[in-house]
Amino acid sequence: MEPTSRVVLVTGSGQGIGRKFAQAFAEQGDRVVVADINAEAAERVAEEIRASGGQAIGVAADVSDKAGVDAMVQRAVDEFGTVHVLVNNAAMFSSLTMKPFEELTVEEWDSIFAVNARGVFLCCQAVAPHMKAQRFGRIVNISSSVVVTGRANYAHYVASKGAVQAFNKSLATELGSFDVTANVVSPHGIVTEVPRDTITEDQWDSIIAGHAIKRKGTPEDVVAAVRFFASNEAGYITGQSLLVDAGLRYT
Ligand SMILES: NC(=O)c1ccc[n+]([C@@H]2O[C@H](COP(=O)([O-])OP(=O)(O)OC[C@H]3O[C@@H](n4cnc5c(N)ncnc54)[C@H](O)[C@@H]3O)[C@@H](O)[C@H]2O)c1
Repeated sequence: MEPTSRVVLVTGSGQGIGRKFAQAFAEQGDRVVVADINAEAAERVAEEIRASGGQAIGVAADVSDKAGVDAMVQRAVDEFGTVHVLVNNAAMFSSLTMKPFEELTVEEWDSIFAVNARGVFLCCQAVAPHMKAQRFGRIVNISSSVVVTGRANYAHYVASKGAVQAFNKSLATELGSFDVTANVVSPHGIVTEVPRDTITEDQWDSIIAGHAIKRKGTPEDVVAAVRFFASNEAGYITGQSLLVDAGLRYT
């Protein structure tokens, strides 16, 4: 049953692209759960949304922790009744240190998988009973274009985002008969308010030279794709993966 008034949970929405997702859903009238490991950031974004007339709550949650994820979804249900849309956006990303794979420690590998891969699994598991019961759900998993290209000194991150894509394939087949869809959006080269060390200004020039569309990406470029997969109208589309990458050439 397609809902008219929807509840959207966006993980990692205390900053960056996730913050824009949360704002965009609120602008179209959805009730939004702004979840982030950074409690202050989550509350700040929720407050921004409320100040502009939208409905939102901020929830502190570490997506790598099962109890924390279950509590996050319960909070959404207590406040708004259910979850219709889950955007798995939280990731270890802007805080990452790049290094050759031979220098990665087991702890570094495991900690990135705990958030980027296990976090997606736990959040899907926690919302699935609600989505199945209401016979409606939209799950959008955020991966990355680096799964297609690979990138030197980034193996831990690339592998964790590859896991998201593989997991999504199975998820879609298990949830489809309940009219719950699961799709992947893979951004590339998106500039947010958050500084990061993983792309230098010199690297930007050569990256943009490889684009069909000759500019850096904005969070709004990703919003369009996520809103599409999350829309009520996209109910016949599942198990798909969409690159939002300016037409990057993989040569
Ligand atoms: N910016 C880009 O160019 C780009 C490119 C490809 C993919 N992505 C993906 O898009 C998403 C958003 O990217 P961004 O640039 O906004 O990243 P970001 O690092 O600025 O934001 C990530 C957010 O996730 C939160 N987070 C981290 N660990 C968490 C945890 N354990 N539990 C809950 N929240 C946690 C952080 O607090 C932060 O608010 C990520 O999944 C990233 O991998 C981004």
